[in-house]
Amino acid sequence: MTDEELFLTALLGCTRSELYTHPPTLTEEQKLELERMKWRRAAGDPVQYICGFTEFLGHRIEVGTGVLIPRPETEVLADEVIRELKTDGQGEHFILDIGTGSGCLPVAIVKALPNCRAVALDISAEALVFARRNAIINGVGSRIECVKRDVFWFVDETSHRFDAVISNPPYIPTFMLERLPEDVRKEPASALDGGPDGLHFYRYIIPAAQRVLKTGGLIALEFGDGQRKELENLFAQTGGWDKIRIIKDNAGKSRVIMARRSAAVS
Ligand SMILES: C[S@@+](CC[C@H](N)C(=O)[O-])C[C@H]1O[C@@H](n2cnc3c(N)ncnc32)[C@H](O)[C@@H]1O
Repeated sequence: MTDEELFLTALLGCTRSELYTHPPTLTEEQKLELERMKWRRAAGDPVQYICGFTEFLGHRIEVGTGVLIPRPETEVLADEVIRELKTDGQGEHFILDIGTGSGCLPVAIVKALPNCRAVALDISAEALVFARRNAIINGVGSRIECVKRDVFWFVDETSHRFDAVISNPPYIPTFMLERLPEDVRKEPASALDGGPDGLHFYRYIIPAAQRVLKTGGLIALEFGDGQRKELENLFAQTGGWDKIRIIKDNAGKSRVIMARRSAAVS
């Protein structure tokens, strides 16, 4: 869809084809709003912020300033986790999503698995406003607990034991942030900045996940271009993981690493 088509469908709550089968007559107020949307776009705001929502695995996810816009690559992570949990023979699942942002991952996973509950963790109060709202509008508000906490504290404080730990953490090396396209730079730096080499969060999450996962529990992490080798090394160095595997995204790039917590870990 063109930007104008996207703005009109968001403004009028209609589909693209309805724009052409029943061409709308805009009120003065709607004309002004459309101009305001185009003006924001010209100023570099992402289309999804202007429309106020995006789609993630077919679910409506509301977004705006202060929260990362879910990316299509991340749908691969959600899809694989759903597939893996559906077939692991357990009736119920309790998952931890680290850096939940808009809540797109727990919303999609919990919606697909009727006996699944999630803790959606984020350090950003702004992001959690969206995560809570997205859980509610998708009908899973009672099964997703949104927690405002720094992951570097949460793992040592919680007494929960999870069936799965998932995360799409910030993974862009700090020096690359200023080279990102203008609209990506409108998204919060705290959602993108993965430290000097982009691996800051993985160095903590991979060993920490073993402390909060049940034996045999699943870990699934998204990672950036060119980070596969380092991620595999981090899993190998930590030890205590079985069935390590890499999933590619729709563009054929290695994008997600998954593993199961080994029974050998005390
Ligand atoms: C790449 S975004 C992922 C958002 C969402 N899961 C998605 O896939 O669209 C990373 C998220 O981690 C959060 N975050 C950054 N540092 C954190 C920390 N120390 N503890 C918890 N969350 C953190 C950011 O606020 C951001 O929402």
